[in-house]
Amino acid sequence: MDLHLANPNLVDPEFYVPGLPVDWVTARYGIPADEVAKLGSAENPFGPSPLAMAAIREEVGHIHLYSSWTAEPLREAIAEKYGYAPENLVCGSGETEVIALIIRAYAEPGGKVLMTRPCFPMYHLFAEAEDRRPVYIDTPTMSCDVDAYIDAIEPDTRIVFVTNPHSPSGTWLEEADVRRIIEAAPHALVALDEAYVHYSDTPGHIHLAKEYDNLIVLRTFSKAYGLAGLRLGFGVAHPDLIPPLLAVKPTWNVGRLQIVGGIAALADDGHVDRTVAAILGGRAHVTERFGELDRFRLVPGTRSNFMLIEILDPDTDSTRVFNGLLERGVIVKDGSVSFRGLGKRYLRSDINLPHRMDRLVDALADLP
Ligand SMILES: Cc1ncc(COP(=O)(O)O)c(C=O)c1O
Repeated sequence: MDLHLANPNLVDPEFYVPGLPVDWVTARYGIPADEVAKLGSAENPFGPSPLAMAAIREEVGHIHLYSSWTAEPLREAIAEKYGYAPENLVCGSGETEVIALIIRAYAEPGGKVLMTRPCFPMYHLFAEAEDRRPVYIDTPTMSCDVDAYIDAIEPDTRIVFVTNPHSPSGTWLEEADVRRIIEAAPHALVALDEAYVHYSDTPGHIHLAKEYDNLIVLRTFSKAYGLAGLRLGFGVAHPDLIPPLLAVKPTWNVGRLQIVGGIAALADDGHVDRTVAAILGGRAHVTERFGELDRFRLVPGTRSNFMLIEILDPDTDSTRVFNGLLERGVIVKDGSVSFRGLGKRYLRSDINLPHRMDRLVDALADLP
């Protein structure tokens, strides 16, 4: 049968490549699950917020009832926490869904969507699937060159993605630089992706959505709150920016368990603080330990719970190192597979508890 029913952009689609799960390594290499260091998905080493787990358990008996289609109780809780009104908010099944809604609602087919290369792949995957046009600014230094980025904003640019901390390097943009980008794009929507902001050890730039009517700030419950499997994220913006997003949103995109889990997690500062402290400790530890390696170096400046490892040894490449680490029970991301434009010289690893960082450094040192 030679039927091509799909949208022509989707006949041979490209998919996101997530970090490998532990069972995959156990099945392939026979390494017991508790000996695998999972450093490819930037998850929370302490698990879910305990307050969220309790709230979800309590809500389970109500899942025969539809949720509020706008996730109203969660919008109220987020608004209260950050000094906004519910009308400033859109919630999604993960921040990833909010990114998809933005691309659909704020760029027409053919519309230009600006992003760095490499970047979080969802920006270009969704843009291409929806026939919007990704425009890339290469980042050979692995951090966003703000002047070059501003120069690339054109009168017909529709969306400008800014990731802070940056992905995949974790580098940080100060508020003045973020403001410069927003002010250079008055005719476009700037989507400031703060998925990893807790690990910057700052409050981030979420307050800027009060000042600018061309900005949406995006956050997720997947990282510091430990709820990656629950699927919950949100965007905060001027109230006029929200209705187009609600209009393209699958109606009940956030279920009852997500709503109560998110509300409880927002109140669980203890879990977030403990997580952030552990990651900062892991970051200091791994930075020091990388001093022992002469074939690899860390790309400096990460303010996230991941880091880029640059391969200095010309006789190997990221895929060989990635496979060598898997054989030693360490899962990271092969930059050449996971990030368009990153090439064969980089791997991305999570920053996690010090003993897991030791597993990574010891395995790198052990590679032939
Ligand atoms: C830069 C960036 N933004 C957004 C997300 C979305 O996370 P989620 O859909 O789990 O909320 C991720 C997840 O890996 C990310 O790396």
